[in-house]
Amino acid sequence: MARSALLNVMVQAAMKAGRGLVRDFGEVQNLQVSRKGPADFVSNADLKAEKIVYDELKAARPDYGFLMEEGGEEKGVDPQHRWIIDPLDGTTNFLHGIPFFAVSIALERDGHIVAGVVYNPALDELYAAERGTGAFLNDRRMRVAGRSVLHESVIGTGIPFLGHGDHERHMREQMAVMGNVAGIRRPGAASLDLAFVAAGRFDGFWEHDLKAWDMAAGIILIRESGGLVSDLDDNQNMFDTGNIVTGNEKIHRELMRMVNGASN
Ligand code: IPD
Ligand code: CA
Ligand code: CA
Repeated sequence: MARSALLNVMVQAAMKAGRGLVRDFGEVQNLQVSRKGPADFVSNADLKAEKIVYDELKAARPDYGFLMEEGGEEKGVDPQHRWIIDPLDGTTNFLHGIPFFAVSIALERDGHIVAGVVYNPALDELYAAERGTGAFLNDRRMRVAGRSVLHESVIGTGIPFLGHGDHERHMREQMAVMGNVAGIRRPGAASLDLAFVAAGRFDGFWEHDLKAWDMAAGIILIRESGGLVSDLDDNQNMFDTGNIVTGNEKIHRELMRMVNGASN
């Protein structure tokens, strides 16, 4: 597949940061057994990954702005373009030695996401998409799953955790969904969960309380794979509301209906 120069820059940045994360992940697995635990080490790995991504993107497009999980917002000289970056999505997995985490990079132009890359370095799976040119998992073109029957569908979600989110609402939502589907999954890295919908591995996904950097790259992966993505009101305000629901046309609609029915 031929990638544009811009997408190449994003892929290089994600892979370079990802290689660093994999080295650090090996060390985390050693630290698991020590009493101090790997928490400080992990936050350092996170910051190092963000610096790698930042430096690569800044060198390639010095004028673009940034929205980064760790470093926050940096206005660019060019007001049209903004990178949205989660250098390590799936931190809890990483910290616990679970090989399911990613580097996520998206590019926004005039408020619209035009390119996205999600890289899972532990599996060496690279998901990349650019507006109008399709989405790819490594060299393979991705399509969302064609399943239209809910009871055959596997649905991903995010479960709120200590100090985060509305636990009771989530339990109501799971109750509403679990009895109608083949299975619910909670892998623990939103960018990869969305990439799984793009790849047709998940038939749908929903979550509340996400940030722009958790979703931005995944959103364009899904759109370019033929899926629908919206917030739970079927609007495109995912970044403002923090909630997201996605799937093919049928599953998106059904999932939204079930989750909304349980939310109130
Ligand atoms: C988290 C993951 C997780 C989601 C959380 C996010 P982090 O991001 O994407 O799947 O449920 O809400 O905060 O902290 O690992 O970058
Ligand atoms: Ca994240
Ligand atoms: Ca993160």
